[in-house]
Amino acid sequence: MPLDPEVLNEVERSLDRCGANPAFLDRFYEVFLASSPKVLAMFEHTNFYRQKRALQASLHGMLLHARGAGPEPDPYLLEVAKRHSRGQLSIGAELYDLWLDSLLVTVKEFDPQCTPEILAAWEQAMTQGIQFFLTHY
Ligand code: HEM
Repeated sequence: MPLDPEVLNEVERSLDRCGANPAFLDRFYEVFLASSPKVLAMFEHTNFYRQKRALQASLHGMLLHARGAGPEPDPYLLEVAKRHSRGQLSIGAELYDLWLDSLLVTVKEFDPQCTPEILAAWEQAMTQGIQFFLTHY
């Protein structure tokens, strides 16, 4: 179900404020990799220059998805979801909890205008995208 566009605008503005600080995605991966040895091991051979740019694009994809922009899923987000599915990266549901918590912690640190409402909006928007990933597991 598409989310309230106003709520999503809040998230988009928050993402812009976070992204204004070049350390945002570095910090996200620092928090996420520290959240579990399992996560750390999965990113052992990752090129983070590339990974951070891909994540940036997919965060916008997640927001587009939550807007329910059209009848077809965003083809880029679909590719990323399939990459995480069984048989490829095999990312189970419990790891998405760590991903989401890490993202919320980082947003709280980096958005100077962060409020509990904005964090709740992030959580709603990302939960929709995570559902989409899990649907394609
Ligand atoms: C909905 C949440 C997530 C989003 C939006 C996301 C996004 C992405 C994107 C865009 C890529 C790069 C795909 C490519 O172009 O190669 C990627 C790769 C990857 N993701 Fe995720 N991801 C999410 C959740 C997770 C979780 C929970 C894990 C668990 C550890 C995870 C582990 C990985 C790994 C291991 C890679 C491959 C890194 C490499 O190429 O070395 N992701 N993810």
